[in-house]
Amino acid sequence: MNGNRPVKKIIAAVCVCVISGLASSAPAADNPLKEEMRRLDAAFKNLVGDVALGNLSAVEGHFHELHALKEKTHAALEKGEIKLPKNGGKIKLFEQYDASFHKKLEQLIKASKKDNIKAVRRLTHRLLDACIRCHGVFRQ
Ligand code: HEC
Repeated sequence: MNGNRPVKKIIAAVCVCVISGLASSAPAADNPLKEEMRRLDAAFKNLVGDVALGNLSAVEGHFHELHALKEKTHAALEKGEIKLPKNGGKIKLFEQYDASFHKKLEQLIKASKKDNIKAVRRLTHRLLDACIRCHGVFRQ
C-alpha cells in the first residue's frame, strides 16, 4: 500500500500543474472585463485585416460574442465584483464611453453588411480612437 504513495503524489502534482496551466491559459475567466477586452482585441485585429483587404463579409462574425461579454462586465461592475484599474468612481463615464463604443460597433456591422467600405474604414478609425480614449481614463 505504502509503495503507492509516491505515485499518488506525482499524480496529484501533475493534476495541480495541469489545472494551474489551464487557469493561466484562460486567466480572464476570473475577470469579465479583461475577458471582454481580450476577445475585443482579437476581433479588432481581425477587423483591421478585413478592412485592409476589403473583405467585409467576415466582419460581423468577429464580434458575435461581444454583446454577451459586455453584459457580463456590466453586471460584475454593478455588483462590485470587479474594479476599474483607474478612476473606479467614474462608473457613469465608463458606461457612457462603453455605450458610445458599442453604438459605433453596431454601425460598423451594419455598414459591413451593406459592403460600404468607406463607412467601415471611417468607423474602424473611430473605434480605435475610442479604445485609446477609454484606456487613457480607466486603464492603469
Ligand atoms: C469603455 C472603455 C473601454 C473601451 C472602449 C476599450 N477598452 Fe480595453 N480596457 C478597458 C479597461 C478599463 C481595461 C483594463 C482592465 C483591467 O486591467 O482590469 C482594458 C484593457 C484592455 C486590454 C488588456 C486586457 C488584459 O488582459 O489585461 C486589451 C488588450 C484591450 N483593453 C483592448 C481594447 C481594444 C482593442 C479596444 C478597442 C477596439 C478596447 N480595448 C476598448 C476599457 C476599455
